[in-house]
Amino acid sequence: PTVFVITPTFKRFVQKAELTRVYQALKPVKNLHWIVVEDAINKTDLVANFLRTSGLKHTHLNVRTPDILRRHRNEMRRMKPRGVVQRNLGVQWLRENIDPHRTSGVIYFADDDNTYDSKIFDEMRWIRGVGVWPVAFTGAARWAGPLCKNGKVVGFHAKWGRFRPFPIDMAAFAVNLRKLLIDFPNAKFVAVEKPGMLESSLLSQITKVEQLEPVTPNCSKVYVWHTRTETPRDSILGEKQLIKKGMPSDKSIET
Ligand code: UGA
Ligand code: MN
Repeated sequence: PTVFVITPTFKRFVQKAELTRVYQALKPVKNLHWIVVEDAINKTDLVANFLRTSGLKHTHLNVRTPDILRRHRNEMRRMKPRGVVQRNLGVQWLRENIDPHRTSGVIYFADDDNTYDSKIFDEMRWIRGVGVWPVAFTGAARWAGPLCKNGKVVGFHAKWGRFRPFPIDMAAFAVNLRKLLIDFPNAKFVAVEKPGMLESSLLSQITKVEQLEPVTPNCSKVYVWHTRTETPRDSILGEKQLIKKGMPSDKSIET
C-alpha cells in the first residue's frame, strides 16, 4: 500500500526548515507520495524547487484560505482552525487522480511543523479503516491519544479537550484510501468555530470510536511530536536593520 501524506504549508521565516525536517522523515520511506498544499494564491518557487530537488514522489497544490476562515489579529487563537481547505483539496486531488480499485493505500495529514519518526509511516501503511496512536505534546499533556487494549481503543488520555467525540490530534490518525475515496466520497474537514473540533469533524463522518484500529503497536509508542517552532525574531529584526544599512544577507542564498 502507498502512504499518501497531505501537508498544508504557508510562507513564513522558518518554512524551509520545517519542510526539511518533514522531508527527512519521509525520505527513507518506501512507496510514499507527498501531497504538499500551499496556503497561497500562487505556488511559490521555494516550495516548487524544494519538492523538485527532494527526490520524493510528490504533488504540489495550492489554495488560499478564504478570508472568512482566516484568523485575524484580534481573534482568539483557537477559534479558526488552520489548514482546512488545504487538507480538503489534497483529498479532492486523490479522489480525482487515484483509482482506489487499482491502488491501495492510506492517507495521513502531516502538518509541516511536527516531528515525525519515519517508523510511523510503515506502521500506518496497514490500516484498513481508521488507525490511531498517541502524539506527544498534545491535549495539554506529555502525550495524548487513544488508550488501547487487545487491539481495541478502550478510552482516551488527555488533559484538555476530553469533550471531543474523537479527542485526538490531526497527527494521531490515518485513514485507508478506500474509506475516503469509495465509502465516504463526500467526507471532509469542516471549519467549525469550536477549538479542537477539526479532527472530530472529519472522523465523525467516517468512523466510530469502537472501530478505530490501534497502531504503534497497541498505541504503546510515540512516533510523532506536536512540536511548534519558535520564530527567530532576532534574525528578522537584524535583517531589517541590515537592509536599512544597505548590507542585506545575500539573497541568492535561500533560507
Ligand atoms: C493544531 C493541530 O495539530 C492542527 O492539525 C490543526 O490544524 C490546528 O491545531 C488548528 O488549530 O487548526 P497547531 O500547531 O496549532 O496545530 O497548528 P499549525 O501547525 O499552526 O497549523 C496546522 C497546519 O496548517 C500546518 O501544516 C501549517 O503549515 C498549516 N497552516 C497554518 C496553513 O496552511 N495556513 C496558515 O495560515 C496557518
Ligand atoms: Mn503545529
